[in-house]
Amino acid sequence: MLRVDLYCGEEPLKVDRTQVLRRSWQFIGHEAMAPSPGDYLAEEIGGAPVVVVRNAEGGLAAFHNVCRHRAGALVADGQGSCGEAFVCRYHGWRYALDGRLKSATDFGAAPGFDPRRYGLFPVRVETWRGLVFVNLDLDVASLAQMLEPLAGAAPLPAFPLVERRSHTLACNWKTYVENYLEGYHLPMVHPEFDADVVVADYRVEIQGEVIFHSAPPRDASVYAGTWAWLWPNLAINTYRHGYMVERMTAMGPEETRLDYFYFFDPARTAELAAMFAVSDRVTAQDKRVCEEVQRNLRTGIYRGGVLSPKHEHGVAWFQTRIAQAHGEPAPA
Ligand code: FES
Ligand SMILES: [Fe+2]
Repeated sequence: MLRVDLYCGEEPLKVDRTQVLRRSWQFIGHEAMAPSPGDYLAEEIGGAPVVVVRNAEGGLAAFHNVCRHRAGALVADGQGSCGEAFVCRYHGWRYALDGRLKSATDFGAAPGFDPRRYGLFPVRVETWRGLVFVNLDLDVASLAQMLEPLAGAAPLPAFPLVERRSHTLACNWKTYVENYLEGYHLPMVHPEFDADVVVADYRVEIQGEVIFHSAPPRDASVYAGTWAWLWPNLAINTYRHGYMVERMTAMGPEETRLDYFYFFDPARTAELAAMFAVSDRVTAQDKRVCEEVQRNLRTGIYRGGVLSPKHEHGVAWFQTRIAQAHGEPAPA
């Protein structure tokens, strides 16, 4: 059951961040985006700055992007290389790529100061088929366990990241997620979709914390006909000649940024152009409807509706999980 009070205002967003987004596996990029020692990816995860770095041994390590001196940032958000060490951008403290404080630069003699107690705060990092995920909660189940339902899925093709696109929507992140979780709106919002897939045969299936969508693709479709949504804010959309990872980030109570990472066969230029056209059109259509819904959630006239048992079981599952995160008991 939808709780209208969770879709506006700073307080519910704070709970979403602490209870949902910072306690779940969050996609940060692809391994190929940080190939060499010192290469990093830095992003806000659930509102908290995080950095993933390729270490000297070739593995990945992740930390909060916060210096233990006076909370400076180690690196700017985005991609880059820090070489052999993080050097804080504020006063220059140096940290090894494993998080140890190597040097409190020009600090002076401070009795009792033990650099070993000032290592970076760790964050968990794991990969799945090249996709890099972090988790700010050090105690939750592994990424592999969460993605167990995907074990039998076809491997992601080894195509390069050819494009990133971002879209900003004036809606709560959950408004967008719920839109993603059902195919009920396809005939009204995306009427062209039936030319790509058989909309009448659209299926939504919940397996653990993964919700699969499928529809038989038509012959000329750019789609492969399967989509996987991963709790709480990620989707992997497959195409005939590639795939796209879609991250849904809460930027504010009523602002959501969609980051699309397209991995595609670069030789397929015509298909790539067709895929971008479809992807941009679908996003614009979803943006319009989500922003209209958000406006109505904000006014307070609507206090909750009813969900289709045929089409909206994914939405019901998501709303139940969110309500639990906000303190409601699990259904018996
Ligand atoms: S805040 Fe990092 S060195 Fe001062
Ligand atoms: Fe849609």
